[in-house]
Parts: sequence; structure tokens; C-alpha cells
Amino acid sequence: MTKQFGKTGRTVTEIGMGTYYDKPWIRIAKHGISIGASRKIKSIRAGLDGGINLIDTAEAYYSEPFVAKAIRGRKRDELFIATKVWLTNLHHDDLIAALERSLRALQLSYVDLYQIHFPNASIPIKETMRAMEEMMDKGKIRAIGVSNFSVDQTIEANSVLARSEIAASQVNYSLVHRKVEKDIIPYCQQNGIAVLAYYPLGHGLLAKPDSRMEAVCRRNSKTPAQVALNWLVSKAGVFAIPRASRAQHVVEDLGGSGWRLSADDVAELEKEFPLENPPS
Ligand SMILES: NC(=O)c1ccc[n+]([C@@H]2O[C@H](COP(=O)([O-])OP(=O)(O)OC[C@H]3O[C@@H](n4cnc5c(N)ncnc54)[C@H](OP(=O)(O)O)[C@@H]3O)[C@@H](O)[C@H]2O)c1
Repeated sequence: MTKQFGKTGRTVTEIGMGTYYDKPWIRIAKHGISIGASRKIKSIRAGLDGGINLIDTAEAYYSEPFVAKAIRGRKRDELFIATKVWLTNLHHDDLIAALERSLRALQLSYVDLYQIHFPNASIPIKETMRAMEEMMDKGKIRAIGVSNFSVDQTIEANSVLARSEIAASQVNYSLVHRKVEKDIIPYCQQNGIAVLAYYPLGHGLLAKPDSRMEAVCRRNSKTPAQVALNWLVSKAGVFAIPRASRAQHVVEDLGGSGWRLSADDVAELEKEFPLENPPS
């Protein structure tokens, strides 16, 4: 299933693919050693074959070259490629250099979404956004996003944009991390900002059998991962980006879309996974 991606005018699959392979993997990848490269590329291709058009990467993930290999031969305008600039590269010239590196790694002339990975209070957001808009004017970025920004930081970032708007906000959001529903999620929904839910499976936790989901899984004949993802994408404007490092997981995760949990299922899940975990 697809949804309108914020105000971009683009139609994007509500389940995408994340390409963060964890810190130990990145530490090795930094030295040019890519463990499991062909399996990872195969997984992304399996998702594309299954109809996914949204891929999330970042300069900090060292996975942009895999994305380049996986999307080779696909129609560019059917893909929605999102990458991120690291928080130390938010000065004007640094951002432009980082974007050029990402475009080279991705073997693309533009990205559909360029996101600030984390806020950095020591670099004026106005300077960062000036570089972003210059790159938009040059056609190298189609939309601007933020990640790990609070509501106030998002409002400030939006206010310094001269001729565009924040299109997307990437946040940690899942059944086991619902506190974002108190502020950033409603803010985005009210302002037409797409939400990219990262850690949508609670970093793997929600893909395991869990008594709190058992009845809903049984009633819908779905796996825990599919129920956890469907709960997310049943929310207005929310897209989920589970990690794609094994083809069989990507195919299973795709089954989290194309159907809807009933209102009773959603209520039951939200009772079992409360907004805030009670103090232990
Ligand atoms: N903006 C940010 O600061 C930020 C931070 C973290 C992550 N992200 C983005 O969000 C994406 C997702 O985060 P994540 O990868 O850490 O967490 P996640 O998607 O919540 O969970 C990934 C874990 O779940 C497993 N998994 C996925 N589908 C499964 C299935 N059907 N059955 C069993 N296990 C399954 C994966 O195993 P396999 O790998 O073996 O398939 C992996 O261990 C990242 O790839 C990245 O693009 C963004």
C-alpha cells in the first residue's frame, strides 16, 4: 500500500527499507570491509521486487554503495531514496560536500529526501537550511527532512527555510516506543509532515513471539513483525522503515502492509503496549 509522502506530491510505499547494520558492522565497513554485502544487496532487491519504493540510508551507515548496486537498472523516478547528513557536517560547505559524497556513493544525480540525522546546537540551523535550499534549487535534493528533532527544533528548522518546508521527520516509533505520540507525531500529522518510523520493530524485539500480541496475530493470521508494522502504518502519515538485511525478513515485513488491523485490534495492542511503560 502507498501513501502521499507529506506535501511532496510523491506516492510512497508505507513500508520501506532501512539500511543501518549496527555499530560493530559500521566500524569494520569504515575500513572498506563489507560483511554480508551480497546478502544485503539481495535483500534490498527482494524488497524492490515486492513493490517497495522507499529506501532509507545515511552517510553514517556506510550502506549507500549497497543501495547504489541494489537499485541499478530500476526506473529512477519510481524510487524514493532518502539519505542523511551527519551532525558534524551541518555547516554550509560541509553539508554540500557531504551531499556530493552521498550522491557519488549512491550513483545518483539527486536524492528524494535529504535528512539532518541529528540536531547540532553548535551549528546555526539557518546556515544548514541555506545550504539545503541551495541544493534544492540545483535539483540535487527533492525534499528536506529532519531526524531526532523535537517539536521545537522542527518549528525552528521550518522557520528558517525561505522557500520550502520540512517534508519529513524521522523518529524512533514503535509499539515499544510510543512516547512520541505525545508531541512530535501529532505535530507532524497536523502540519502535513511525513513521519518515518525508525526502529519500527523495536530493533528486532517486536519480531519475536510476544504474549501481548498473540491474540491479534492469531485473529489476523499474521506474524508479530507484520502486526507491529501494520499498527504503525495504520496511523496517518506514518511510514515504517524496518531493516532490510535478510530477504526472507523483507518479504515477511512486506506482509505488514496491504491490510488493516480492526479498531478492536488496535485498542487491544495499545492497552498491552501502553504509551508509557509503568515504572518497574
Ligand atoms: N534516524 C536515526 O537516528 C535512525 C536510528 C536507527 C535506525 N534508523 C533507520 O531505521 C531502520 C530500522 O532500524 P533497525 O534496523 O535498527 O531496527 P528494526 O527495523 O526495528 O529491527 C531490525 C531487527 O529486526 C530484525 N527483523 C526485521 N524483520 C524481521 C522479521 N520479519 N523477523 C525477524 N526479525 C526481523 C532484523 O534482523 P535482520 O537484520 O537479520 O533481518 C534486525 O535484527 C534502520 O535500518 C535505519 O534505516 C534511523
